[in-house]
Amino acid sequence: METGNILDTESIVVPVEENEIAPLSLSTDTNDPEKYIREMKRFYLLAKRQAWKVESLSWGKIPPVPEGKGSGENRARRMEIWRSVVTQQLQADTLASLLSSQLLAAAPDLPGRLYYTTMVQDEGRHAEAWIKLCEEVGGMSEPNPFLIQLGERTMNADTLEEKIWLFQVVFEGLVIDKFRQIAAGAPGTVLAELCNRLTIDDGIHHGAGVSYEQHLFQHTSQRTKRAIARVSKDMWPLFENHLLWRPQARSWASAALQKRDIATLRSYMVREQKLAQKVGLEIEVPQGY
Ligand SMILES: [Fe+2]
Ligand SMILES: [Fe+2]
Repeated sequence: METGNILDTESIVVPVEENEIAPLSLSTDTNDPEKYIREMKRFYLLAKRQAWKVESLSWGKIPPVPEGKGSGENRARRMEIWRSVVTQQLQADTLASLLSSQLLAAAPDLPGRLYYTTMVQDEGRHAEAWIKLCEEVGGMSEPNPFLIQLGERTMNADTLEEKIWLFQVVFEGLVIDKFRQIAAGAPGTVLAELCNRLTIDDGIHHGAGVSYEQHLFQHTSQRTKRAIARVSKDMWPLFENHLLWRPQARSWASAALQKRDIATLRSYMVREQKLAQKVGLEIEVPQGY
């Protein structure tokens, strides 16, 4: 959001160095600092109210994942698929734990930092639930190598704004639909219960990220915004690979799923464009979309 103020040409981007704790400062939002403080407080209170315990899921009362029907071989194959789903979500929430603690340390103001204390707790609890679920389905399976790369790129983002854009605005914004799909495909299981909780939690994380990004962008230079748009475009093929990836045990499913994956990717691209508009970024659509 450009105000025409001369300050807007100066970047006050906070570098996110590993192990660096950003010095706290009072909000410098010249537009409406009160509104920003109220918004972050609202997300903080929402997160506190929604906080839940891993023990509250129906462990032992309902199946962890769908048990499946048919021959032993078919059932084993289905179980491999669910194990892979659980493994990748554990990977994602382990990364989210790292990223949210980086954001807690890097947030330059108290309202932002207070909000991130809730996110660190949420992401830790998510990882805890996935670890328990992983144990219930026979342990971790093959990790998604592209998810590891996506996580590394995001953790090493050049600026706080870039990190919030990638993690909270894009990834957390896009994952909500995925949780709904998983829950719909696994009715009456702990997996579905967990995904329904995560839909709410990540809705809060995403909303807070959009608000914080809009606030930070009031003082972000056009150059930094262009750099973020460039990184976002460059990372798209990696995002695509992460979505299309199948573990060795499931490679047989790739051809059958590809059509649906392409449709999903297209819808993600449309969503990403809308999110970019919302925070004031111009992201080029990669070729083929
Ligand atoms: Fe999470
Ligand atoms: Fe999250």
